Amino acid sequence: MDKQTMISNINKMKKEQNAVIVAHSYQVDDVQEIADIVGDSFALSQYCASSTADTIVFCGVHFMAESAKILSPRKTVLLPEINAGCPMADMVTAESLREAKKKYPEAAVVCYINSSAEVKAECDICCTSSNALSVIRSIDKKDILFVPDKNLGSYVAKMCPEKNIIFWEGYCITHHKIKSHEVLASKELHPDALLLVHPECQPEIQELADFVGSTKQIIDYAKNSDHDKFIIGTEMGVLYQLKKDSPHKTFYMMSTGLICPNMKKTSLQSVHDALAFKKYEINLEKDIIERASHSLTRMLEVAK
Ligand code: 13P
Ligand code: SF4
Repeated sequence: MDKQTMISNINKMKKEQNAVIVAHSYQVDDVQEIADIVGDSFALSQYCASSTADTIVFCGVHFMAESAKILSPRKTVLLPEINAGCPMADMVTAESLREAKKKYPEAAVVCYINSSAEVKAECDICCTSSNALSVIRSIDKKDILFVPDKNLGSYVAKMCPEKNIIFWEGYCITHHKIKSHEVLASKELHPDALLLVHPECQPEIQELADFVGSTKQIIDYAKNSDHDKFIIGTEMGVLYQLKKDSPHKTFYMMSTGLICPNMKKTSLQSVHDALAFKKYEINLEKDIIERASHSLTRMLEVAK
């Protein structure tokens, strides 16, 4: 099937099924192009919570589709590529978290949205990279067990020195692997460009940046800045929106390694098949949905 026929079929099935296609900014360009909304984890959670569609086709990774299901349990949530997972989310399990909670019984427990539904069910509140600071500041306890991203945890600890953040040994395989020498080389090559990085990068990379922010915050920063050259320190999928917003600005990738292999699994064909064959439907136990929705809705209330 050629691309145009595929797109018209997708649009036809979408209408028939009252479905929406949501896509994370790290998806391939073709998928971002046909999506009803493209955004970061927070924007997509807000959108799914308020959508009136019957079906959500989630072009992202597994924990994102689970979050959509938790926020909209009566909707059909489809993840077009069932093996699109997030290695960082797998670095904390509900069982390991229950053990850690015994060790720090006084601490509040905050989970990054990049975690499974079972982990969210064990937490007091959830956060994304765009609202982590307001979530942390909303907590009255000093001790906070923060799972699973140690790099986002370091960023939060630096920005909220009044809190005692207890870190977890988790990280994003894509952002964490970037080394200082690569970044310094890129800065040397483009001395008049501003460096914008995601807080999933290691602290020493964050130190080199002109701006640290979530996917959407990076996109907005570049769009609204008077500057016209940027080194981008997050997954390369954001280039689609950056170039669309500012066709006359120049964007350099901080490293050629900034590609999330799981985010790249979804194609137009997989979106087509998701709608055609209702695959892959995300289902969660009622008890998990109830407990995990507490963490997510509390986050949405704090960071409106
Ligand atoms: P944000 O969408 O919050 O920027 O997070 C990035 C990410 O790695 C998602 O998996
Ligand atoms: Fe997970 Fe990193 Fe990929 Fe996001 S970019 S899905 S955190 S591996």
